[in-house]
Amino acid sequence: MPNLLSRSVFNLFFGARRKALASLPGPQPGILGTAGDFLEGLPAWDVCARYGREYGGVTLIWMLGNPALVLNDPDLIEQVLVSRRMEFEKGSVSEEIKPSTTHHALFIAKQSEDWAAKRRADPFEQPWFGDWLAAQVGPMQAAVARSVESLDGAPIELTPVLRRMTFDAFAVASVGETLPDSVFEDWMLLAKGADNRIQAKLPLRFVSPPKGFEAARERFYGHFAERVRKARQAPNPDAADLLSRTLREVPGINDEVLAHVLGHVFFGGVFSSSTTLVGAYHQLQKHPEAEQRLAAEAAELAREKLTFERLRNAHWIEAVAYESLRILPAVRIFTRTPTNDVKLAGVTLPAGTTLMISNQHLHRDPSHWTHPDTFDPSRWLDGGVARDPLGSGHFFPFGRGPRECVGAAFSMVFLQTALATIAARTKVHVDSTEPFEEGFFFGVVLPKGVTGRFVSR
Ligand code: HEM
Repeated sequence: MPNLLSRSVFNLFFGARRKALASLPGPQPGILGTAGDFLEGLPAWDVCARYGREYGGVTLIWMLGNPALVLNDPDLIEQVLVSRRMEFEKGSVSEEIKPSTTHHALFIAKQSEDWAAKRRADPFEQPWFGDWLAAQVGPMQAAVARSVESLDGAPIELTPVLRRMTFDAFAVASVGETLPDSVFEDWMLLAKGADNRIQAKLPLRFVSPPKGFEAARERFYGHFAERVRKARQAPNPDAADLLSRTLREVPGINDEVLAHVLGHVFFGGVFSSSTTLVGAYHQLQKHPEAEQRLAAEAAELAREKLTFERLRNAHWIEAVAYESLRILPAVRIFTRTPTNDVKLAGVTLPAGTTLMISNQHLHRDPSHWTHPDTFDPSRWLDGGVARDPLGSGHFFPFGRGPRECVGAAFSMVFLQTALATIAARTKVHVDSTEPFEEGFFFGVVLPKGVTGRFVSR
């Protein structure tokens, strides 16, 4: 708690603002507001979860003299993300990632402007999407199997290795083959540029892009533009990848839009999906009985060709994916800001107030989950998935409502394919499960220093 002098100085300058929000609980602000809580070394999601435990569903915090709310209440989150979503936009994250993406990016589209049209036009929203998705199980399985074989039991750091494995599987699903290292490196540089802005302590105009950023950007999006050009020139009627399928289904699609959609698939999903896998292996190492059951189901699946249908019936693998997304969600905080003054939680919030929406506390809320801190995939069996579906009050790793992750279904299929493919061939051995250190990169949790090996079965 800030000392008396610090609290008095805050009140002197911002007392009137504070009075208008006096009904909301929260820590005492000092000269820096309550920003000190986020500067003590704990990750921001742990601070938000602590607020949930200490203050309940809504916590008033102060970034210097600016109020912000941390939401840990399912009903308030429902209002902001679902029923009253048109009153809120995504806020600063759009500006932060803008230079690394393009104006075609759905993630940063404004609800009041172009979001609905972009979402409707996105290939992942089309009626043929389910059919395309089902056709990706085989190609993604082959890509994951090749990655596993290339590791050959060598000591590895899981986060970068699983990131590249995910990138390769996504490439096969998007364009039908893996991409050269140079494309991966350009993409990482663009992600680094965005991350520098997301984590900047200074106003964005003072944040310079990393060296070579502009050239990498041109090459990265140019790579997909060239693929679209070639696929138009020489279409392959049998190709199942997203590029070929989209050109067949929507021949009138603008080439630049398609090229950028393909590039954006990697930004949207590779960090988050690979982080989820690292979290899964960390937990499976701690819970050998869950790992053995995963291996048994994967071995059974491996007896015949892996198909979407067979994967769908692999309930333990699905449960492991869900439980990993519950206990260690890769995206733990997302933000909204009201575009005008709004009434929320019984007070009037000025336009531009930051709302931090956190899933970590609700994913482990003891009033909702039994043994919330224990990795227990069996909670998802026997109706568990229907009790807490994706996007519900206590389980929203992909967000909630109409702006819920457009790649959620694809991610689920990728995660299950990867878990099944890896478990059928190897046991992922994690050297040490404690401490489990998590950093942050490109808006996504980034497990650090998790070493281990893929040991052949
Ligand atoms: C485990 C993997 C993933 C996680 C945890 C995840 C998480 C999320 C979350 C929490 C949101 C909502 C953000 C908000 O409301 O502010 C979101 C939105 C989004 N995600 Fe994902 N995501 C994953 C995979 C993917 C993949 C594979 C793609 C691309 C194919 C993707 C593309 C997007 C896009 C475009 C949006 C914005 C949708 C819109 O605004 O309409 N994500 N994601």
